[in-house]
Amino acid sequence: SCLVWLEEVSSTQDFLKEREDLNCVVCAKRQTLGRGRYGRSWHSDEGGLYLSFPLQEELKDEQTLPLVVALSVCQMLEDYGFLTSIKWVNDVYVMGKKICGVLVEKLKNRSIVGIGINVNQRNFPQDLPATSMFLVSGKEYSVACVLFFLLDKIEVNLDLLKEEGFRAFREDIKKRLLFLDQEVILHTEPPVVGILKDISEEGYLMLLTAQGEKKVVSGDITLRG
Ligand code: BTN
Repeated sequence: SCLVWLEEVSSTQDFLKEREDLNCVVCAKRQTLGRGRYGRSWHSDEGGLYLSFPLQEELKDEQTLPLVVALSVCQMLEDYGFLTSIKWVNDVYVMGKKICGVLVEKLKNRSIVGIGINVNQRNFPQDLPATSMFLVSGKEYSVACVLFFLLDKIEVNLDLLKEEGFRAFREDIKKRLLFLDQEVILHTEPPVVGILKDISEEGYLMLLTAQGEKKVVSGDITLRG
């Protein structure tokens, strides 16, 4: 497919949403209205990698797509020497801080996958528990190289997802899972407390609560205490 590289855009997600026929990877140097899940904003200064791409065909396991994309980011970062973990369902952490977020939005019969990776940023607002490849290693990276290595991983993994389903990834994701065997709070209404035990065949989170095992479809988790 093709690649659109923009200096500045409101959000690469919106750029694709407004162009139904565009079957390209869209990247921007910075976004003025970058957004994350739950209507949060995504800090999008120059130095990061901000990309979106459409998936035309209906992926039947929608729940697992963000996990497989997050795993692809982990594999790319590991090739650079970083130690990574996945915070269910779609964040990548390095050294206990968020380095990447994934956003999947449904639009008619296609999904738009958005990925933000902190590459060369030197600082973040104080209240953000974020880090970048630069802040961890002290080195600067070519954003274009990060992009191409990432697209390679995503292509291979999405093919595998189509052929073999999520079971091909379950172990690889589980071994990188942040908070595994620790007590977490799931921020739903009401909140749920439990020990994070596993990730199911469908990509759901398995929590061991006082009431027994609970399968969680979505929500944000944090460590308890
Ligand atoms: C999250 O952590 O909540 C998801 C963050 C997703 C950010 C990316 S950056 C590229 C794409 N365009 C956006 O406006 N958001 C996604």
